[in-house]
Amino acid sequence: MMPRHRRDLTVPTRRHFIRYLSLASLAAASRLSSAGPGGPLANVRGLDFEEIAHGVDPTHHVPPGYVAQVLLRWGDPILPGAPAWSPGTISAAGQATQFGYNNDFVAFMPLPLGSASSARGLLCVNHEFTNTQFIWPGLNTMNISRSMSRERTAAEMAAVGHSVVEIELGASGWRTKNSPFNRRLTADSPMRLSGPAAGHTRVQTNEDTQGYNCRGVLNPCSGGKTPWSTVLIADENFNLMFAGHTQDRRERRNHQRYGVGSSNVYSWWPRHFERFNVARDSREANRFGWVVELDPYETDSMPIKRTALGRFKHEAATCALNRDGRVVVYLGDDETFEYLYKFVSAQRFDASDRSANRNLLDEGTLYTARFYDDGRLEWLPLRFGSGPLTRENDFHDQGEVLIETRRAADLVGATRLDRPEDVEANLQDGVIYAMLTNNTSRHMDALDAANPRSHNAFGHILKLLPPGAPGTVVDHAADEFQWEIFLLAGNPDEPAHHARYPGAVSANGWLASPDNCAFDPKGRLWIASDQGRGSARTGIADGLWACGEDAVGRFVIKRFFRAPIGAEVCGPEFTPDGRTLFLAIQHPGVNGADYDHPGTRWPDFEHGTPPRPAVLAITREDGDEIGV
Ligand code: FEO
Ligand code: CA
Ligand code: CA
Repeated sequence: MMPRHRRDLTVPTRRHFIRYLSLASLAAASRLSSAGPGGPLANVRGLDFEEIAHGVDPTHHVPPGYVAQVLLRWGDPILPGAPAWSPGTISAAGQATQFGYNNDFVAFMPLPLGSASSARGLLCVNHEFTNTQFIWPGLNTMNISRSMSRERTAAEMAAVGHSVVEIELGASGWRTKNSPFNRRLTADSPMRLSGPAAGHTRVQTNEDTQGYNCRGVLNPCSGGKTPWSTVLIADENFNLMFAGHTQDRRERRNHQRYGVGSSNVYSWWPRHFERFNVARDSREANRFGWVVELDPYETDSMPIKRTALGRFKHEAATCALNRDGRVVVYLGDDETFEYLYKFVSAQRFDASDRSANRNLLDEGTLYTARFYDDGRLEWLPLRFGSGPLTRENDFHDQGEVLIETRRAADLVGATRLDRPEDVEANLQDGVIYAMLTNNTSRHMDALDAANPRSHNAFGHILKLLPPGAPGTVVDHAADEFQWEIFLLAGNPDEPAHHARYPGAVSANGWLASPDNCAFDPKGRLWIASDQGRGSARTGIADGLWACGEDAVGRFVIKRFFRAPIGAEVCGPEFTPDGRTLFLAIQHPGVNGADYDHPGTRWPDFEHGTPPRPAVLAITREDGDEIGV
């Protein structure tokens, strides 16, 4: 038996806590959640699993009594005629029929459509980006660019995007099926633009002079599900693929705001494929940065970029159905000092007619968030003609406000946050949790109550409270919310971390760099982490933590899962019955140097093969619910 770590808490005292805060951020200390007084983790009732210990090693760990099945790995065949995975020799045609690289967002969509099945469904998975040096042998920083041929680049373009795979639960666990639902989206897949920016002159390109058709989703990170059972995936760090500069003054300003032309990590993409060279086509980059809606139940459905939801580096797009039937989508822009957004649909969701919701995300209002030190949160509309969003500031219609969403949000005075990743609403009590993963570039002179730590290496989580929350009827569409800090991540035993948790945190219950989150069917929050290179600073692997109540109703946080070295943990996603938990393990082993020298060869552990990002299906040996 692994020892259960129990101890009294070492949460910093309020006096200690206040000492490191600037005067401007004193309000944050008074805005911490008060979910419990703290105390030993004795007799945990709600979260009754044996906690995983901190540490770092080549493989994954789940608590005793749990099983983690490797369900889908990078390169696994999913479409008819797909070749078997062959390390080091992937082709574009082969990769486009196989499971992609670096799995992130995971959605379980029950089959048949409209059912609440937890035994058969479509697994919809994002493939964010490629770790090129771990895909082909012999690459290093000196030779990588010249080693990436056109064919290899095309294979990389086929490795990102999205997979839909039918899965079924049987006597020996989950299995993937050869199914007509299975499909792949890549960086080249045909998609359509819709909403206010569709057809705009600024999305008209050499390839599509009308501005309605485009190709590919780039760096889709996390995502969301709509009430009408489609999935929302999104372009995130699309700038990494683009190079070059344009003479067009307006587009140059626009590109600079998104890092286009200044951070072309994949320099071989524009070299082989002209559309990624801004000097050749100044508007191709404007076809990225959008939320993409995909209907996985319609096998030939066209993925649609919903421009009404704004253009930025979308981490995710998560939905809440408002009390009046309008749909609210919460959105984070994943970069340091960027903003939070929400979209409120103009029309109402129709539960009786799925097709009536088809274009619900094309019409509505996009807002960005301003946090006040007194705990108020104001949602500022990004509407052409209102406030500074006028011709005087070089906006000429709503399409331009959306194409340059970041500049619009700058002008209305949104609050610059510590890298907004996942933002999810707990549909049981209406409380929204925003993961701010970290921001080591924030200095003392730029602190505020919502971003209270300088050199924020460990990140924090904000709670957003719409009117009525916590409660069963809340107003997600309201112009004003309240907010508070849920936790300041880091090790509470290290005074320099200035960590702070609501209630109890066990020896292994502290975490760093919250990235993704989910709620189980009981409404409990689960937090996944992505420290990147910051894991060297904490000495702990990334993982998944559960938050819930103990036997006497005190709030506790416990580590449930530990990732293999180098990996971050994505998903997470529960089946409707809470008996399976899917986790996407992204970039295992990248703490190592390259293909031949990875940090781990997870999950196959075969000599000479590279690590493979993979999705785990976690269940209990006794078949009961996860975490009870
Ligand atoms: Fe892909 Fe938001 O990190
Ligand atoms: Ca993320
Ligand atoms: Ca991440």
